[in-house]
This record gives sequence, structure tokens and C-alpha cells, in this order.
Amino acid sequence: MKAYPISDSVYCLHADIDTDDLFEGIWPIPEGVSLNSYIVKGEKIALIDLVRDWIGAPTQLSDELASIGISFKDIDYLILNHLEPDHTGWLAEFKALNPKAEIIATGKGVELVKSFYKITEGLRAVKTGDTLDLGAGKVLSFVEAPNVHWPETMVTWDAGSGTLFACDAFGSFGKLGDRVFDDQFSAKEHEFFERESLRYYANIVSSFSVFVERAVKKLEGLEIKCIAPSHGIVWRTEPMKIVERYLKYARYMNGPAEKKIAIIWGSMYGNTRKGLDAVIKGIEAEGVPYSIRRVPNEDVSYVLADAYEASGLVLAMPTYEYAMFPPMAYAIDIMKRKHVHGKTVLRVGSWGWVGGAKKEYEAAVEGLKWTCMDMKEWAGAPADADLAELEAKGRELARIVKEGPKAE
Ligand code: FEO
Repeated sequence: MKAYPISDSVYCLHADIDTDDLFEGIWPIPEGVSLNSYIVKGEKIALIDLVRDWIGAPTQLSDELASIGISFKDIDYLILNHLEPDHTGWLAEFKALNPKAEIIATGKGVELVKSFYKITEGLRAVKTGDTLDLGAGKVLSFVEAPNVHWPETMVTWDAGSGTLFACDAFGSFGKLGDRVFDDQFSAKEHEFFERESLRYYANIVSSFSVFVERAVKKLEGLEIKCIAPSHGIVWRTEPMKIVERYLKYARYMNGPAEKKIAIIWGSMYGNTRKGLDAVIKGIEAEGVPYSIRRVPNEDVSYVLADAYEASGLVLAMPTYEYAMFPPMAYAIDIMKRKHVHGKTVLRVGSWGWVGGAKKEYEAAVEGLKWTCMDMKEWAGAPADADLAELEAKGRELARIVKEGPKAE
């Protein structure tokens, strides 16, 4: 456990969370997640972002502080860029250890400190342009970044070291271990974190994509040398790489996204799967890359990431008791909540004694800004004519993804 210097007065601390618990109570993190905090030292000491009491995180933080000769009692200012409890859950305990530390957040953040933790004293509300002078020439400034991820969010800027403490923006799932900086990870490890940053974005941030673009615009003009997020890698060598990646993700929301197809499927007794195989044959014939996830066997967290990134979707599901296959109904609902918009979509599936999925599906996808191809349903096992039609539909979808939708 140690602190990682970003400059002679700025340190990264991180608690690695290794658990089968779910992030936000929803999202699996089989490869963990890091909760990053930062110390900025002038004559006074600021701690930026805290932890929740989760798998020993406060102890990890305490040990890392001790490695640079600091204890929680030495903190003069606790800056809370964002009040979600992954960064603040241990606040009452911190305040009990160090009642003199001033807590700094936006006006909305201060209200959340009061409502979540019933702390009413020693709070300072800041807004864009406000500064905090730590002495010894160290001055931090604040920029509100509402809805990246909650409405009270802000980022903190240290012009001296060129470090942007960005909270949830530019973060990812995945624990860090004994390295934190972008230049300390191999290309293969970066591939892992890229996948996990997409999944993090699709699960946590995608609904707020418009605000991500706005926040990035606000940062123009800053000479950023280091992006220091509250989860994942600290970017000191190529800080703009993660900024550009996030902008790309933000723009997926309204499409077009990547020239890929995300296949999401469920099948009770294999008849929908047989039909899907014909669709896949068509997609493969056109040479378009695709991912494939089965629901409910694979968690919707991964389905979201694949769907968010792809321009085309195949949703293959049978009718189940006069309606949609329930795990697919859930997947569609969560895609709606997470703004998986702007896709070209092919829905296929079988029915047993009577249909019904079609009607519920059409109602469910309203408002999703999807371009839906004519869907294909069949009774029982697909006949040869059905399979030929399904293959042709797979080809058609793949061509649209390759070439882009036709102009109207
Ligand atoms: Fe990492 Fe929105 O909290």
C-alpha cells in the first residue's frame, strides 16, 4: 500500500475493490474496481474524494496516506467532486476522526452531504471559477460538471501540476494493483482497461452523454498534463487518449457507432437459435464483425457495452406466454434507460402455439430512436424458406452497418 506521486505535491491513492458484490447494486465487477483519491499538498493539505467502507477501502486509504506521512487527522480540506457513496460512504467516520476538516462540494453537493450523512457544519459550497488556496503557491480551482455523473458533480483543477481530478469522468472498471499510471501498463492490459472503460461508460455514464460532451468543452483551454479519475488508470503520459475515448463514447449515443453488430439472443428449446444461426451466416458472408451474448446467461452489463458500441443489433427471442422472452424484455428496458439510441435493429424469433412477442416488442422500442428492419417470426422450427429469409436479413443488416443507412 503506497501513494503514487503525480508531482512533488500531488499523490494518487487507490483502494482496489475485489468482490463478487455488484457496483451500484447492479453491475458485476469480476475484475474489481479501484476507488481513487488524491492528496494535494501546500501549507494545507487537501484530500480529493473519499471511499465507502467496502472491502477494507478505508484501511487501504489510511495505509497509503501513512506512506507519505499523513493521517486522516492532518487533512485540512476534503474536496468531494461527486457525492455518490462509492466516493463518500465513509464520510461520517472521516468527520468523526477529523471534525475540523472543511468539506468542499458544489451547492447541490453540500445538500447531499446533509441528506446522506446528516453533517451540517464545516461545509463550503463552491461553483465554477472558485478557488482554494492551499498556500505555498498551490491553488486549486473548481469547474462544475453537472450530470457527469450526478447533478452535483464538479471537477477540480490543479494548474500547478496540470492535473485534472475528474471524478467519474474518464474512469473504468478494473482494479489497478500496484501500478496506477498509463505508462505502467502493457498493451494487453490497456486492451482490458479499454473494454472495461466501455462497459463502465455504457453502464454508468451513457445516459449523461450530452453532459460529457459539455464537460469536455468546458475543459478546452486547460493545459492538461494528467487526467486523474476516481476509477481506473491515471493518465499522465497520454491524457488526451482517455478524453478522446470518452468523447467517442458520448457520440455513440445518437449514432452512428462502430461498424459492428451486437447479437443478443435467448432461446427456450433451440428454435430461435436455429433461425439466428441463419442470420449469423448472412452477417459472416458480408464480413461484418459481431459480438454475441445470450440472455439471461450473460449479464446485461456486458450486453449494454456491446450494444452501445455497435451500429447494428440483432435481437433474437421467442414468444414466451403471449409476450417477449422476459430476459430480453429486461435487456430492452435497460437499453432504453441507458440511451442505447440510433441503432439499426433486426428482431427475429419463433413462437410455439401463438405469437405475442411482436406486439410487446413494438411498444417497448418506442422512443429508442432505432431503425427497425422488418422483423421475422416463424412457428415452431424454422423451415428452409424461413432460414433463407433469415440469412438474407442478416446480409441486409450487415450491408447497412457497413455502408451506413441510406439517406432519405
Ligand atoms: Fe464513482 Fe458516480 O460514482
